[in-house]
Amino acid sequence: MSSTTPTTTDTAAPGELPMRMDGWTHHAKTYSNVERMTYPLAIELAEWTDSVLPFTTPNSRVLDNGCGGGVLGSAIKSLCPTVPLLSTDVSAGMISSARARAEKEHWHPPFEFKALDARDLDGVESESITHSMSQYMISLAPDPDQIAKEMHRILKPGGVLGLGTWAMVDYECFYDPMLIAARETIPDFDLPGLMHEKWTDIEKTKGALKEAGFTDVQVRPKYIEWDYPDVESVMHYVFEEGNPGVEAYKRSWVEQSGKGLDEIQPKFARAVKELYEKDGGKVLLPVKAAIWVARK
Ligand SMILES: C[S@@+](CC[C@H](N)C(=O)[O-])C[C@H]1O[C@@H](n2cnc3c(N)ncnc32)[C@H](O)[C@@H]1O
Repeated sequence: MSSTTPTTTDTAAPGELPMRMDGWTHHAKTYSNVERMTYPLAIELAEWTDSVLPFTTPNSRVLDNGCGGGVLGSAIKSLCPTVPLLSTDVSAGMISSARARAEKEHWHPPFEFKALDARDLDGVESESITHSMSQYMISLAPDPDQIAKEMHRILKPGGVLGLGTWAMVDYECFYDPMLIAARETIPDFDLPGLMHEKWTDIEKTKGALKEAGFTDVQVRPKYIEWDYPDVESVMHYVFEEGNPGVEAYKRSWVEQSGKGLDEIQPKFARAVKELYEKDGGKVLLPVKAAIWVARK
């Protein structure tokens, strides 16, 4: 296992998206709440990618780009423990979490971690990777077209892309209750769009992947119910756990209202209850995603 010093600043380009890239490091410690939802998708993406080009193919080398806490790497290593895996992320905190996961789960070598910005996979040679993979990063990172070009550049001819995208511009499950709650006080309250339409709308993403040079593009749209035991746990996620998208929503409230978060919390809780609470108090938050495979 090896590591490198971060080669990028951990901040978003000005004017790009309302989410701050350095926010992911703050979210790293509690990110397992999201992984409960994305792990089954990671397993399916790994299995689908492997069915297109087996990880056991001689000289395979897999990239998990924007690896976060290493959930996709975990799925890949459980399917094919010996495949060489390079996990990269711009957030030093996320890289630490992924490394801790590898130790805890006793990943079989070879594997390595590098702090790299997906817009410039510096040091990853062109045509050196057989499986160029990534999930739930490209829809929300700055300059996704450039990220797709990089994922294509490093892929060997005949190699496979395995990609997960969000299929919604906003985190609808938090956006809707935030609008309902805020409009009780400010009738024309609005929220910024969080993600790139081109990389969330399924048809546009298909076009964008072809534009980046990928062929045989296939997609499986996914609808997920992100389950929480009760409204209080959702409130903890939104108000304590530091998801950068949710932080952008909260900043909007503070900026537009001039009021504190304590003002909106009970209204937000009521909206979550009305929209998503099921019998017995369990909460199911709707999430739209898509998984993709393509070839070079
Ligand atoms: C929603 S999380 C997904 C993490 C992981 N792939 C998963 O499925 O759990 C988005 C990740 O993208 C990373 N990220 C955002 N912008 C990036 C960039 N320009 N280059 C590399 N990673 C980036 C964040 O640090 C974060 O770990």
